[in-house]
Amino acid sequence: MNKANLQLRIHDQVAWVQIDRPTKLNALNKEVLEDLHQVFSELRNDVSVRVIVLTGSGEKAFVAGADISEFSKFSPNQGKALSQTGQDQVFAYIEQMNKPVIAAINGFALGGGLELAMSCHIRIASNNARMGLPETSLGVIPGYGGTQRLAHIIGKGRAMELILTCQMITADQALEFGLITQAVPQEELLSTAASVAQKILNNSPFAINQAIQAVNAAYDENQNGYDIEINAFGTCFGSEDFKEGTVAFLEKRKANFTGN
Ligand code: COA
Repeated sequence: MNKANLQLRIHDQVAWVQIDRPTKLNALNKEVLEDLHQVFSELRNDVSVRVIVLTGSGEKAFVAGADISEFSKFSPNQGKALSQTGQDQVFAYIEQMNKPVIAAINGFALGGGLELAMSCHIRIASNNARMGLPETSLGVIPGYGGTQRLAHIIGKGRAMELILTCQMITADQALEFGLITQAVPQEELLSTAASVAQKILNNSPFAINQAIQAVNAAYDENQNGYDIEINAFGTCFGSEDFKEGTVAFLEKRKANFTGN
């Protein structure tokens, strides 16, 4: 399943996806985006995988943005198509995955890089990470959902300030804003991601998928999140995992979930 610009390793039900284009600070070109779509669509259906961790190769960058050299001569229609395809195939696709995706932000997460991290369900970062949406400095705006997700995550005022000033923030500031949930030394980033993954692995994959869809619904104006929650809650009662989880609790043992 390895692609030219991605490394994939699956170990103990966790898939580790590393964007591997370090000489360009892991910038997202067409091939990287296509590889990401391919890998995530395969992981979606891989029942041996219950959590995905997404990170960048090297110690400098998670992803330094969309590949500027690729779109510098685009027309308005090409720009729209780039944004639409990216959102459909990668950014919304990851956000709507049926299993949790943790972004382990190991350095610069700028533009499309921060947008990619924001599509993940959980974000943790190394202390050296720098985050921002610098697109207006290039004469463009965030096009992979950044204007929407940043405001949802950190609030409109802070999102406006970051997008309009192109200011980069540190991991500590990102923590204070709620953009990430942990800031750790770089050498502890992957072990921290592993420990978050481990906690998730204790829980029902079936219920986790339902929870992801219900939380996402709060940010989708075409859905009533409370109705989605009611349905998802009810659906859980028909699952094997629910039977196993409740019986295991009553029998005072650890549940053995299958995800069904
Ligand atoms: N698109 C294409 N190439 C990129 C890139 C991007 N978004 N970000 C970095 N690169 C390339 C550089 O062009 C350089 O390539 P080269 O060695 O062939 O010249 C290489 O990655 C290393 O980057 P460099 O700029 O030399 O590193 P630096 O440490 O001086 O600066 C950054 C790091 C992240 C501050 C700087 O690369 C940067 O500002 N990148 C663009 C960020 C951005 O605007 N992203 C939003 C895009 S919409």
